Amino acid sequence: MSNERGNWGSSVGFVLAAAGSAIGLGNLWKFPYLAGKNGGGAFVIVYLSLVVILGFSLMLGEMAIGRRGKSDAYGSYNNIKKGWGFVGMMGILCCFVIYSYYVVIAGWIVKYIGLFLSGGMDGDPVEYFSTFISSGTTPIIYSVIMVVATALIVLKGVSGGIEKASKIMMPTLFIFMLIIVVRSVTLPNAMDGIKYFLKPDFSLITPKVIIAALGQVFFSLSLGMGAMITYGSYLSPETKLVKSAFCIPVLDTIIALLAGLAILPAVFSFGLEPTAGPGLIFITLPKVFSAMPFGNIFGVIFFVLVLFAALTSTISLLEVVVSFVVDQFKLDRKKATVLVSTLIALLVIPNSNSFGSMAELKVFFGMNFFDFLCYLTDNILLPTGGLLLCVFVGFIWDKEDLKNEITNHGEVKFEMFPLWIVGVKYLGIQLLSLILLQAVGVQDQFLVYALGTIFAVQILCGRLEAKRGVKAV
Ligand code: PHE
Repeated sequence: MSNERGNWGSSVGFVLAAAGSAIGLGNLWKFPYLAGKNGGGAFVIVYLSLVVILGFSLMLGEMAIGRRGKSDAYGSYNNIKKGWGFVGMMGILCCFVIYSYYVVIAGWIVKYIGLFLSGGMDGDPVEYFSTFISSGTTPIIYSVIMVVATALIVLKGVSGGIEKASKIMMPTLFIFMLIIVVRSVTLPNAMDGIKYFLKPDFSLITPKVIIAALGQVFFSLSLGMGAMITYGSYLSPETKLVKSAFCIPVLDTIIALLAGLAILPAVFSFGLEPTAGPGLIFITLPKVFSAMPFGNIFGVIFFVLVLFAALTSTISLLEVVVSFVVDQFKLDRKKATVLVSTLIALLVIPNSNSFGSMAELKVFFGMNFFDFLCYLTDNILLPTGGLLLCVFVGFIWDKEDLKNEITNHGEVKFEMFPLWIVGVKYLGIQLLSLILLQAVGVQDQFLVYALGTIFAVQILCGRLEAKRGVKAV
């Protein structure tokens, strides 16, 4: 069975593919602009703490579910505990939705590579960017190019397609990133940007900053939506899960930090604003490149590296959905890939037009199509998926079985197992409840009451477990 589903050729291949899933527009586009908007170093320090507290733990949880369940996200949850497949199902839906808008941004990257290859930008970058994204058919075509490229790789399967592509793209990305960072930090006055990015001003840490950072941890590490479950399901029984689960957040965080160092010092050096938001890499950076000697070459290198990062992520977003269709509906991989990609290409139309003809069309809750989908995934589906993941790992999955999976039946030492479980059970659930409650509008003392009630339930469940004789820790 597992051979028909596919397997990774090697552990390194798996780590590169999983890091490829994690490293994406989240690191290169979102992280620098979120840091720029949320107080620079203050955001970075909160983000790093949350990666340490939650990122590693949940990464391990998801990989273990996948390898134990040996199926797509839905099937894996169900195989471990009947009735829990719905959590995986929600993750698959989340990936599908994210994919449909992620390719829109990725399409803009393709356009910008062409732009810098053909000699750079004439005129005002703000004007250029807004005219391009609102121009109807052209941005849609670029996004569809991304959908087709992703499909061509996923069609080739796990080791022949995804692993091979990641082995080429990930090291290239890393080298290109170093080139850009060296260029950026050696510009005049780069130190101001480095300070802004790395020196935390603790007074800027607000609940808003914490919530933004928490959402970003999930998005950036591809957690809470079954991506790591799906990739984990292709792992061999010998792989050391703890080690892999440790490497991926580390790599992802290094790239996010390098992205900040690639962008913010350059922005400061040219006297531009770091708080530009989503336009940071499409508007502010082109200004930087046009003012720099050999700027077009750096422009191409930068956007190719972003493209590689985006592509290894779209591959995993598509793979989550394709593996579900293959495992649950027994469709062959080729047909499943074509089917899902066609649906995505159709959804690209309203998503892309949300920056043009449909910008003012309030489709749901006063938001346009694109904004609504982003809100739905970032604020509702992701934290709910993460919360249920914590509940599943902390309270539902049989502890003995879980420990066996993580330690390869006792062959690998994991002394922190008890601490890990407690972290997921209590801290993980509390933090995720915080984002979720806040996203649905619970505030102030109600938020405190709600979290208190959840904590009481957690303690009660822990007690009940102890009574049942579950050796929790
Ligand atoms: N982690 C990816 C990024 O940072 C996005 C992603 C989310 C990919 C979920 C796969 C699954 O861009």
